[in-house]
Amino acid sequence: MKTLFLLLLFCHVSSAVKHTLKFFITASSGVPKIPELVITAEVDGSLAGYCDTNKKILEPKQDWMKKIFEDDPQYFEWATQQCFERMPNIFKVMIHNLKQHLNQSGGVHILQGLLGCEWDDKTGEVNGFNQYGYNGEDFISFDLKTLTWIALKPQAVTTKLMWDTDKARIKYNEKLVTEIFPELLKKYLDYGNSSLQRKELPSVSLLQKTSSSPVSCHATGFYPDSATLIWRKDGEEIHEDVDHGEILLNHDGSFQMSVDLNLSSVTPEDWRRYDCVFQLSGEKNDIVTKLDKSEIRTNWGKTGMRIDKEEPSNITIPITATVVVLAVVLIAVIGFIVYKKKKANRPPRPPENSTELSEKLNPETSRANTPPCTQ
Ligand SMILES: *[C@@H]1O[C@H](CO)[C@@H](O)[C@H](O)[C@H]1NC(C)=O
Ligand SMILES: *[C@@H]1O[C@H](CO)[C@@H](O)[C@H](O)[C@H]1NC(C)=O
Ligand SMILES: *[C@@H]1O[C@H](CO)[C@@H](O)[C@H](O)[C@H]1NC(C)=O
Repeated sequence: MKTLFLLLLFCHVSSAVKHTLKFFITASSGVPKIPELVITAEVDGSLAGYCDTNKKILEPKQDWMKKIFEDDPQYFEWATQQCFERMPNIFKVMIHNLKQHLNQSGGVHILQGLLGCEWDDKTGEVNGFNQYGYNGEDFISFDLKTLTWIALKPQAVTTKLMWDTDKARIKYNEKLVTEIFPELLKKYLDYGNSSLQRKELPSVSLLQKTSSSPVSCHATGFYPDSATLIWRKDGEEIHEDVDHGEILLNHDGSFQMSVDLNLSSVTPEDWRRYDCVFQLSGEKNDIVTKLDKSEIRTNWGKTGMRIDKEEPSNITIPITATVVVLAVVLIAVIGFIVYKKKKANRPPRPPENSTELSEKLNPETSRANTPPCTQ
């Protein structure tokens, strides 16, 4: 018990801000009129830029990314080369080899890469990742500790054995995720510091759809996305009867999430013992909301406030139009959504009715909530 307490304490005190850089690369073969390669870059969960080899588009999606392109022609050159030469060539060869290993001739094949790094701005600790999905399933990933490839399914073993022999590529991958990406991430954070390093606390409210529904604690408007939202009873975090939602992106670039508490077996006198706590990674002050019947916004009864549906997000349109409009990409990302969900280790939320306050965005723009202490 003591150890647990110390652990929790340590976790709380050392909670620093982790920044992440993620490149999602989707390559396809055998699909006519579809881009061969699409790369999107995300910094701390926000789309920073993307490129599409077919349309020959390399587009910054944030003002700071535009500024880097303008200020640093060398970087622009590097990005152009990665998008239109290096990555398409690498992925073309990879798909070709995979088809051979797996004895596939024609047909449609999709290879996805998730490459990037995580950087702790307090400790300087870097964590890199480089993993691939093939035809919608996790396939192979790079293990930085052993500098070998890990087959994520039996069919990937041949590929693993072959990739393990390519020492030059392993060396390059190591450098990529431990040096090149962290440098890039720091450069991005530097250029985008006013937006990327901002801290925004959310407004937190309690919502309930019907008198027998769970009470939802809803936090919206926070930034960055490394945050936790929990229910407590007598000051202790509870897990039973609690359902965590995913973190979703708002149209203004901030995030929202909610956590539901099923109170059907709690007597009205005991309600006062519960509270909902929001914590932003690296911030000392939590937002504590006591479970108080009079504070709950409802859509029923006469005393409650009406819950109005929020405007549909307008980020849906640009993202849909630019990145995920292609059916193939949508199909292809399923692999990673599954992966993210698994990682989150939490059940997805059921579909909501029209009183829902959350904005349902593209699944790609939402991310699973991983509490900073468990990473
Ligand atoms: C590959 O395909 C050939 C011809 O269809 C077949 O004879 C062979 O057994 C297959 N090999 C594997 C490993 O599936
Ligand atoms: C951005 O950088 C400037 C100069 O280094 C610093 O003064 C400022 O506090 C930074 N902004 C944020 C939000 O961190
Ligand atoms: C809440 O809990 C009760 C009893 O534990 C259960 O019957 C009910 O289905 C739960 N409601 C929801 C929405 O999960």
